[in-house]
Amino acid sequence: MTRILGIETSCDETSAAVIDGAGDEVTMQSLVILSQDVHRIFGGVVPEIASRQHLTAIVPVVTRALTESGATLDTIDAVAVTHAPGLVGALLVGVSFAKAIAFGRGVPCLGVHHMEGHLFGTALEHRDAVPPFTALLVSGGHTMLVDVPEWGRYALLGRTRDDAAGEAFDKVAKLLGLPYPGGPHVERLAATGDPSRLRFARPMLRRDQRPGDADYYDFSFSGLKTAVLNAVHAAAPDDHPHIARAFHEAIVETLVEKTARAVEQHGRRRVVLGGGVAGNRTLVGAMRQRMQRLGAEVFAPSARIATDNAAMIARAGLFHFERGARSPLDLNAFATLPLPGLVDA
Ligand code: KG4
Ligand code: ZN
Repeated sequence: MTRILGIETSCDETSAAVIDGAGDEVTMQSLVILSQDVHRIFGGVVPEIASRQHLTAIVPVVTRALTESGATLDTIDAVAVTHAPGLVGALLVGVSFAKAIAFGRGVPCLGVHHMEGHLFGTALEHRDAVPPFTALLVSGGHTMLVDVPEWGRYALLGRTRDDAAGEAFDKVAKLLGLPYPGGPHVERLAATGDPSRLRFARPMLRRDQRPGDADYYDFSFSGLKTAVLNAVHAAAPDDHPHIARAFHEAIVETLVEKTARAVEQHGRRRVVLGGGVAGNRTLVGAMRQRMQRLGAEVFAPSARIATDNAAMIARAGLFHFERGARSPLDLNAFATLPLPGLVDA
């Protein structure tokens, strides 16, 4: 059995977690997430402020995660830390802290790709959310459709060409005068809207697309955002729920249909959702309904595990630790980095 301390500071959550286990038998012993509230005033994350708040929070957050798990720095086998992608200044706080622990205690440090963390996160809550599966990763910074034949081998089928799904939710929230982060607010407002009032085109989704077409799996959400902007300008505030509803239906149908294409083409029986937008119950419900027709089971994380957390980083770190991976102590942070383990579809 291996015990991993995970650390995540890529954006506006300072998080630490302890997990232990072997292979896919993993137990989460503790998870502490401290969300930085201050960014709400600015309507988005201010990188410099995020870094400073991580510096203030990292020691107490890691200490609390260790205490809650009953572990100490002497009883962990490795430290896993998000080193990319994300805000470099924010990432560096976690990376520097993890390397200091690793050096001080003589344990290995493992740099983890944030999106690979999201791929593993759902398995913390659902023991069958393991490969082979089709994954839809929808976060504030990324939108990826990935075929996963086994852990560590990822065929990137599609990605967004402009805004990420979560980013689209956040921008639409702003247009509708809702607080940041906007996803949950848009979801709630949409539920009160009348779906027959307004309809937006499904972005980059057409029946005549064929596998092999560049846009068969790719996403694009900036046009949808503009459609919302135009609708807001043309409408009265009373219409906001209907606009939210129309936006919500367009984005959900697009995500669901592109995932269905991947499931069909690759013959997968499992769909794993990850990233903050996977906490959207309407999306999960629509995905379940659609996948039932294809005979595939859908695994979705709770809102806590869908959004950024260190347990998913520890879980991905455990996989790499067991494969013998070790990061050197000059491990660096990167704003962008391709997913590791990319293979052809
Ligand atoms: O994965 P995450 O915590 O951070 C990134 O890696 O970016 O995702 C955050 C994103 C935000 O854009 C937020 O608005 C969105 O996830 N989000 C949601 C919901 N909850 C969070 N979007 C739609 N519906 C939700 N219920
Ligand atoms: Zn994330």
